[in-house]
Amino acid sequence: MAADKLSTRHLLGIKDINREDIELIFETADNFKDVINRPIKRVPSLRDITIANIFFENSTRTKLSFELAEKRLSADVINFAASSSSVSKGETLIDTVNNILAMKVDMVVMRHPYAGAGQFLSRHIEAQIVNAGDGAHEHPTQALLDAFSIREKLGDVAGKKVVIVGDILHSRVAISNILCLQKLGAEVMVCGPATLIPKHMASLGVRIEHNLIKALNWCDVANMLRIQLERQDIKYFPSLREYAMMYGLDKQLLNSLDKEIVIMHPGPINRGVEITSDVADSNQSIILDQVENGVAVRMAVLYLLASQRD
Ligand code: CP
Repeated sequence: MAADKLSTRHLLGIKDINREDIELIFETADNFKDVINRPIKRVPSLRDITIANIFFENSTRTKLSFELAEKRLSADVINFAASSSSVSKGETLIDTVNNILAMKVDMVVMRHPYAGAGQFLSRHIEAQIVNAGDGAHEHPTQALLDAFSIREKLGDVAGKKVVIVGDILHSRVAISNILCLQKLGAEVMVCGPATLIPKHMASLGVRIEHNLIKALNWCDVANMLRIQLERQDIKYFPSLREYAMMYGLDKQLLNSLDKEIVIMHPGPINRGVEITSDVADSNQSIILDQVENGVAVRMAVLYLLASQRD
């Protein structure tokens, strides 16, 4: 059963929240999904709240989705991109954020290339922090919208078999998804070349499979991750072409499976590498549902965190 309030003041990672929190977020997101499908998509819930979206790393989906969620909730919104800021002149994270907070900001949504950046900030400032992705650590709202999308498509997350395929080593999406799906009672497998599956995976209680065909035959849902070329300091596989041959999902492979599995991808997609266009755009893909659900789930997270302020 869902709780009536979150057990946390910030959303730094899925590891800090429990099943009741996740169910409360989902029930609240169900209501907000109704709202954003109405002709008048805005509610006054966060009318007195100012939110800063601080992005030290590139983003399309997460940044736009948070901004839209905030505006749908009637919050005042300011946006900050490190690339066009005084960070390029050497200003520190704390100084940057304290300057933004001096403008009376209540909540900070932050993406940062370093793991633990949100945690660090939460120890130094009063504002509530939402982690929008920190290095290879966590991306909690992505995991929440992914699990919400599975629940919407399959009715429940508990008991479902989900395989996460690809670059697990560099993926904050993988870690947050594993924690979220397990808290909701799903079985989780990771699949990819041994070089892209960190040793600590076994300690998380996930299955490990290096054969994509076996993994796809096992699962109800396949979440196909992007190869994060920008985070790869050494070569983890011979070439993208070889990776695509071993771990890419194409229509022929999808059609060869005994059952109709659900295809997910957090984006951005490398079409023709981890997934072909005919799979990404097929009826089995819920990739754009994930994006749509991201707004409702982020509205729920912001609304519930703001409720903690009273
Ligand atoms: N899924 C995701 O985090 O995408 P962006 O990097 O575009 O925000």
